[in-house]
Amino acid sequence: MFCDTHCHLYDEYYDDINLVINNALENQVNRFIVDGCDKKSNMEVLKKVNEIPSMYGCLGIHPESVLEYSEDDLNFIEKHIFDDKIIGIGEIGLDYHYSKENKKAQIKLLRKQLDLARKYHKPVVIHSREATLDTLNILKEYPEVKGVIHSFSLPVEVAKEYIKLGYKLGINGVVTFKNSHLKEILKEILPYIILETDSPYLTPHPYRGTKNEPKYVETIAQFIAKEVNISLEDLSKITNDNIKEVFKI
Ligand code: NI
Repeated sequence: MFCDTHCHLYDEYYDDINLVINNALENQVNRFIVDGCDKKSNMEVLKKVNEIPSMYGCLGIHPESVLEYSEDDLNFIEKHIFDDKIIGIGEIGLDYHYSKENKKAQIKLLRKQLDLARKYHKPVVIHSREATLDTLNILKEYPEVKGVIHSFSLPVEVAKEYIKLGYKLGINGVVTFKNSHLKEILKEILPYIILETDSPYLTPHPYRGTKNEPKYVETIAQFIAKEVNISLEDLSKITNDNIKEVFKI
């Protein structure tokens, strides 16, 4: 069985989350880690993990929320950090694709959340887009903090840097895209990967154009297993061991 280690199963995206969970169960996906991005979604994560036994949650302020968040939203995360089934801080990070002009504010927000992770010994889920150098330099300031690089892409040299810092690499539907070269480095990074969908985004091939769901972790797993020539059982063991190491679940 597999775990979708990064998804956004919020009511605004899905009419029937129980159906989404059942679809996943029918496709060998039996655990889900839902990531918050702002106050509203963090509150929803808390509610969902209480309602759904197979669901775990991370709380965080996404870099795209950098202009809207308040100190109160960070206090909310701190207050709930030891709640039942809250297993990490995420998704947090740097995104220079849409908002380069907020670099300083994004870095400040990321540092505040890494401070929380260090203080409470919690893993982090890192979003880094067009911001590799700053992300690496900041993570190096927090050698005690470990976690996951969500939606990892190339190059392999960067993968090695993250691995050296103790991070696992979240691989999603992007690996199946025809124009992606990520598959070429799978053999090298295989011992350090975990699987995710980032639902409702990044639907894998051949389902692109439809809404993503955690059930497609199986599609991603089948693709990877074929590329590196291992069994689905072995891939399940590698990824579940990594999940246990990072999130203790
Ligand atoms: Ni995400």
